[in-house]
Amino acid sequence: MTTAKIDVITSSGSYNVFIGRGLLPECGEYVRKVTDAKKVCIITDMNVRKLYLDIVKSSLEQENFDVSWLAFPPGERSKCARTLEKIWDFLSKCRLTRSDCLIALGGGVVGDITGFVAATYLRGIDYIQIPTTLLAQVDSSVGGKTAIDLPEGKNLVGAFKQPALVLADIDTLDTLPEKFFRDGMGEVVKHGMIKSEKLFEILEKHDIESLRNDKEVLREVIGRNVTIKRDVVQADEFDRGERMKLNFGHTLGHAIEQYYHYTGITHGMAVAAGMKLITEIAEKHNMAEPGLTERLRKCLDRYGLDIDAETSPAELGEICLNDKKRFGNIINIIVCCDVGAAIIKRMPTDAFFALLSEA
Ligand code: NAD
Ligand code: GLY
Repeated sequence: MTTAKIDVITSSGSYNVFIGRGLLPECGEYVRKVTDAKKVCIITDMNVRKLYLDIVKSSLEQENFDVSWLAFPPGERSKCARTLEKIWDFLSKCRLTRSDCLIALGGGVVGDITGFVAATYLRGIDYIQIPTTLLAQVDSSVGGKTAIDLPEGKNLVGAFKQPALVLADIDTLDTLPEKFFRDGMGEVVKHGMIKSEKLFEILEKHDIESLRNDKEVLREVIGRNVTIKRDVVQADEFDRGERMKLNFGHTLGHAIEQYYHYTGITHGMAVAAGMKLITEIAEKHNMAEPGLTERLRKCLDRYGLDIDAETSPAELGEICLNDKKRFGNIINIIVCCDVGAAIIKRMPTDAFFALLSEA
């Protein structure tokens, strides 16, 4: 299989995203091409450490990098200030300098916190993303949003910091538990809905099983997602307009996650339920093509994501009051008029609540 190469060009840095098979054992060569660092520090979680640390470390050592590593417990709870402080301490004990480099080896949790460390340690050093979950390969490793969570909410402290390179080895997805693969599919369906009927049609021809087993199609699907994300980020790196379209399903999705106290429902499931609800509302008010909700529902069903939240839309409206995308009494809602055609609707929060109450 050939390796796909996608260029990302932004005002704060340009880099390549490589997507293919067998990239981990060769990662040292890719890394050497983008950095003169003497030291690299791999940040990972304890699951990924067991699976992939040795292979990455030995490839980097073959390129004469002085390699250190740090692994923290897996999961969202680690994306916090405590872990951040441990990583800062570790880097300064290893005496990493500004010309050295960090490597985020893992899913979105590892990528987000490592990116934030890279944005802040010594006022900024380079980092490289080696994403190992579907979600990280199609979404979080590209675009430079980095963050940690606070007890008050997710991603409340962060920075924009583009990576120097992204290496997405699709072989790593072989070991990814189905639950997490399914979760990443929520963002994949979202990308099709907002920007690409072609991607959506591919998804309509497959299901979770066939997509995982057909590596050619999987690489194509990941590539199409990265291209969509790249185009959106290049148009609006700092999330002031076009990039908001990536929030399709997320305003309600976050409210659903909060309603369930982040247990029993994953982020992908919540986003899927959010996409369906907002599309249903849009269709009802003639903002979307007739039949769009059913088309979306059928596609989500193929990936185990046809989920309805137990809560009422009106209850979700209350929770949305805390949404980051709300500015005063105005809220930005992303609506898909058709597959591949998203628009940003700015509306008074009252009008949004009224739509939800009628749903
Ligand atoms: P995650 O990083 O917690 O990974 C999920 C689980 O899979 C973990 O238990 C991990 O140890 C395990 N894992 C990772 N790779 C594996 C592999 N190849 N084989 C077996 N197990 C593996 O979760 P995630 O879904 O990758 O990322 C979620 C995070 O991403 C959230 O914090 C979210 O806020 C963030 N996110 C960020 C952006 C962005 O633009 N920065 C976009 C979307 C999501
Ligand atoms: N995942 C949302 C963004 O990158 O903007």
